[in-house]
Amino acid sequence: MIDFTDSAFQNDPHPTYALMRRTGPVRRVRLPSGMDAWLVTRYEDARRVLADPRLSKSVAALGSAAGQSAAGGALSRHMLAVDPPDHTRLRRLVSAAFTVRRIEALRPRIEVIATELLDALDGRDRADLIDAFAFPLPIQVICELLGVPAADQGSFRAWSNVIVAGAMSGDRLGPAIESMIGYIRTLLAERREHGGDDLLTGLVQARDSGDGLTEEELTSMVFLLLLAGHETTVNLIGNGAYLLLRDRERWERLRADRALLPSAIEEFLRYEGPVETSTFRVATEDLEIGGEKVAAGDPIVVVLLSANRDDDRFPGADELRLDRPQNPHLAFGHGIHYCLGAPLARLEAQIAFTALLDRFPGLRLAVEPEELIWRPGTLLRGLTELPVHL
Ligand code: HEM
Repeated sequence: MIDFTDSAFQNDPHPTYALMRRTGPVRRVRLPSGMDAWLVTRYEDARRVLADPRLSKSVAALGSAAGQSAAGGALSRHMLAVDPPDHTRLRRLVSAAFTVRRIEALRPRIEVIATELLDALDGRDRADLIDAFAFPLPIQVICELLGVPAADQGSFRAWSNVIVAGAMSGDRLGPAIESMIGYIRTLLAERREHGGDDLLTGLVQARDSGDGLTEEELTSMVFLLLLAGHETTVNLIGNGAYLLLRDRERWERLRADRALLPSAIEEFLRYEGPVETSTFRVATEDLEIGGEKVAAGDPIVVVLLSANRDDDRFPGADELRLDRPQNPHLAFGHGIHYCLGAPLARLEAQIAFTALLDRFPGLRLAVEPEELIWRPGTLLRGLTELPVHL
């Protein structure tokens, strides 16, 4: 039995996942949300599962009523919760805004945001790098891209925190979801009145021009983009900074050789990726995964963090190598639901690490690595705080 809420597991789940890869790589468990699901922990199984068309993303395919009520709701008509052809239609509506070329055009603006955030730390000896930098940077970027006013970013962060913690937050979950829906509807109504030059306006126009986008799909899309933009990249910047500072030789090496930065970022994604487990998939027929018989209606969750530490795929998987030459990690998923925001996340990370290395060359941890606390829950992998001396 794995106790997902145990603090030792939370702070370092890798030994447990390593044991699972060896002794039961496809295993049925009860998740903290109360859902019984198959956990897939090896790389090859994980990759196959993520691209298997016999697995559905729709709650409607779930066998158990409990699972259906846990995962449903008015914010779940987004691309990550549906199958083709709906998935294809919804993803196509926004994919043009997230191509490498369109995202590269945001570089100067993201550099300004990063510089401003670090400017605000001038003269201080100590700071929490998560709160002061890793969180606000991606939040500001996704809010500007969509067209969410800066003044509202605080409330948004509070609601999305509760929603991502999911079932663990108990009776705060319902009100947070309601506030989020209400807020997104107000935003959309404003864009209908006064359009702008942002993604929200584009989506409202797509809905109103009769593209077949329902109001629920529109609300869910905005929800997904904001949430994904809020809760993931923070962990890439936070986990990466932690890994560099835990062993300051790495920090110095990267400072001396900036050409290493792209492969270093891929290695952060592999070694301590921001997303611990995929969202669930449901078997639409009886099938076999890694020798286990999975019944139609069973939920399946891929442990991305574990697949990325599989020695069968990555030589010396438990070693962080900033110059790892080949790195086909699964941190952004795989298959048709492969992360839409990957080019944006990579660009943000590149700008964030460059700014940090330039601005605070003497950066170091202000606490022992063992004192750091990782966020609860199995969906995301990230630090609650990262105290540093500047
Ligand atoms: C999907 C990871 C940043 C938008 C995914 C999935 C993963 C992932 C693993 C697939 C989940 C599954 O198949 O169950 C990450 C990581 C990020 C990141 C590690 C940061 C380092 C972003 C950003 C956005 C974004 C900044 C911005 C909008 C999306 C969307 C999907 C998605 C829309 C759903 C795609 C689909 O269903 O076709 N992401 N993400 N992500 N991500 Fe990201």
